[in-house]
Amino acid sequence: MNRYGIDIWSDNNFVIEGDKVKLNGFGKPAIVDIVKKIRDDGNRGPLLLRFPHITQKQIDKLYISFNKSIKEYSYDGNFNAVFPLKVNQLPNFVLPLVKNGEKYNYGLEAGSKAELVLAMAYNNEDSPITINGFKDKEMITLAFIAYSMGHDTTITIEGLNELETIIEVYNEINLPSPKVGLRVRLHSSGSGVWAKSGGIDSKFGLSSTEILEAFNLLKNENLLDKLTMIHFHIGSAMDSIAPLKKALKESGHIYAELKQMGAQNLENINIGGGLGVEYNQFEKKLNYSLQEFSNDVVFTMQSIAKQKNVPQPNIFTESGRYIAAPSTILIAPVLELFSSEYEEKNLKVTDDSPDIIKELYSLYRDIKKSTAIEYMHDSLEHLESVLTLFDLGYINLQDRSNAEILTHLIIKKALFLLDFKHHTELKRIDSKIQERYLLNFSLFQSLPDFWGIDQEFPVMPLTHLDKKPTRSASLWDITCDSDGEIPFDNSKPLYLHDVDLQKEEYFLGFFQVGAYQDTLGMRHNLFTHPTEVDVVFDEDGMKLENLIESQKILDILDDIDYDIDFIQQKLRSKVTDDKLWSILDSYLHDNGYLKTTKE
Ligand SMILES: Cc1ncc(COP(=O)(O)O)c(C=O)c1O
Repeated sequence: MNRYGIDIWSDNNFVIEGDKVKLNGFGKPAIVDIVKKIRDDGNRGPLLLRFPHITQKQIDKLYISFNKSIKEYSYDGNFNAVFPLKVNQLPNFVLPLVKNGEKYNYGLEAGSKAELVLAMAYNNEDSPITINGFKDKEMITLAFIAYSMGHDTTITIEGLNELETIIEVYNEINLPSPKVGLRVRLHSSGSGVWAKSGGIDSKFGLSSTEILEAFNLLKNENLLDKLTMIHFHIGSAMDSIAPLKKALKESGHIYAELKQMGAQNLENINIGGGLGVEYNQFEKKLNYSLQEFSNDVVFTMQSIAKQKNVPQPNIFTESGRYIAAPSTILIAPVLELFSSEYEEKNLKVTDDSPDIIKELYSLYRDIKKSTAIEYMHDSLEHLESVLTLFDLGYINLQDRSNAEILTHLIIKKALFLLDFKHHTELKRIDSKIQERYLLNFSLFQSLPDFWGIDQEFPVMPLTHLDKKPTRSASLWDITCDSDGEIPFDNSKPLYLHDVDLQKEEYFLGFFQVGAYQDTLGMRHNLFTHPTEVDVVFDEDGMKLENLIESQKILDILDDIDYDIDFIQQKLRSKVTDDKLWSILDSYLHDNGYLKTTKE
């Protein structure tokens, strides 16, 4: 059976048992049963299921791994982490994260004023706040206010102008200055799609000359005691650890030199994010483990500190993707299989049908395992001939329909009889025989990284997992945009089941979608955020909490500043029939996703 690579990407969070994919723990509820429970309450369209216990597991693993390395190497510094809000700012994600991170003093990282306000309101007492990204005077003033509220706040400067603004605000506001970090523009860059966040031509960070200038500026202003952190970020989703090692050495030596130059309170090295998660369903892409990652960081920092005879720095990380991605599944109901109209009951083959149609019919009737490939080839060839004959006026529409139905039926039967793995030929013609699955979701809204940068996500059906999937699948979303497609790819083929949606529902789950997708998503065609829910477990069992419904049509229009009173009045004035109006009115107060045939 096809396991959809679950052993590669799921980190034991999910298991396949019987015909279903299940949560691995808490009595192993099937994901489809959770979905049905939510849908039974009238929630329609795509769903986002969030599992805070998985986020908790990621946080625990991060701290345990670094603390283990620290112990193993008898490292003198300690480990700290902040969650970068840019990765997922939504309350359903952030609030449980903050609560669960309290025991570690897990903090927050902010990259904009709005994120900083969130951090100021929700960060755990005594947990750090780091502030990155480009900053204006207002943002720096906000950082001073955060510090005055008692938050352990560090402003990481991206350029000298920011340091000048910090000094300006310091001289004006009559408040103690927050801590200051210097973001280093590394010579080395990362690996993977986001590698350009690091490197000499990176958008962010200070060059060596600027670092020296920043040091002198702080010294001249008597603020050198505020310099506490060296920071770098080499790019997200590193699939190889080699570039990290280079970056660690580069930034470690910068730390050590500044320390030797007299930066007495410089005691932290912040290694940014970049820790990858496994998105691949076919073979492992990440070439390192979390333990290897933390060992490398601790070992490298220790070696440099010893070499330069300076104290071993505390280590900070800003891992986001690693913490957030595994916690969330996007569920997309299948609305339609495009070949579903090719059913036997629609055939109209008679004694008067042309010979080529009769020949196709006998191929369909007689096909067996030993002849499957040959008959499939014959049928595809016959279909081409029928289409040509139709264009020339020798075949009528009914027989064209018969030929299309028969060819599809032959292919379906052949796929059922054959085993994909052993038939290279079948793979070769896969692209011709694939099934298109129409999914009730918007790729632009829910998987923007697939659209923007071809980021793949593990995908699998929630049910039917004890049956052989026979259809090579391309996935279409419901936007009117031809980019809203995940095409079949021979190098990483997705096979799905042949289901009759009149009789049963079929759902696909996209996994590892908790990082970046939620707020990067866009409202193309005015499809908005799916309904989302936190799935939590306590001693009384499973609870579905914090359900946020997908927006209603009127709310969507209101959000983009339409006058919804005008819209309602205008429609009401033209739709005078009360019955018709009540139908229209109910649609206006419903979400804009489609309904499946069974709804
Ligand atoms: C400064 C900084 N820190 C942390 C992160 C989070 O990175 P990741 O999600 O790869 O852990 C980013 C992401 O772009 C970043 O720019």
